Amino acid sequence: MEINEKQLFEVAQEAMKNAYAPYSHYTVGAAIVCDDGQIYSGVNIENASYGLTNCAERTAIFKAVSEGHQHVSRIVIINGTKELSKPCGACRQVMSEFMGPEDIVYLANCQNDFKEFTFKEILPLAFSDKDMD
Ligand code: THU
Repeated sequence: MEINEKQLFEVAQEAMKNAYAPYSHYTVGAAIVCDDGQIYSGVNIENASYGLTNCAERTAIFKAVSEGHQHVSRIVIINGTKELSKPCGACRQVMSEFMGPEDIVYLANCQNDFKEFTFKEILPLAFSDKDMD
C-alpha cells in the first residue's frame, strides 16, 4: 500500500469513530479520492426508522458529489469487526455511478487487513446509463 493509500486508510479509520450505529453496533468508515486528489470520508448513519439508514460509502460519495465531484478513483471501506468490509448492493450500485470498472476498492477490517479489488470485480454486470441507450 503506497503512502497515499495508507493516508486514505487512516482517514477511513478516523471517520469510523463518528459512525452513528446505536441499533446494529456495526460501525463503518469510508474514504474516497476524487480526480483532483481531494479526499472525502463518510460513516454509516442509522435511524430509529431503520430503513432510513445511510451507509458509509454513500455518505462519502454524496458528500463529494454535493461538493462538485463526479468521479471516485479509489475507496477504502473499513468496519469495526475482524471481517473485511463488504459493501451492500445499494452502495455498489451508487459506486457504479461514479466509479469506472478499473477504479480501486480496498475492503478492510479493524486489524489493518485489507484486500484490493477493481470495481468491476465487486460489481460485475453493473447496470448503467448505457443499458438505456
Ligand atoms: N453498512 C454500511 O455502512 N456499509 C455497507 O456497505 C454495509 C452496511 C451499515 C448500515 C448499517 O448501519 C450497518 O452497517 C448494519 O447494516
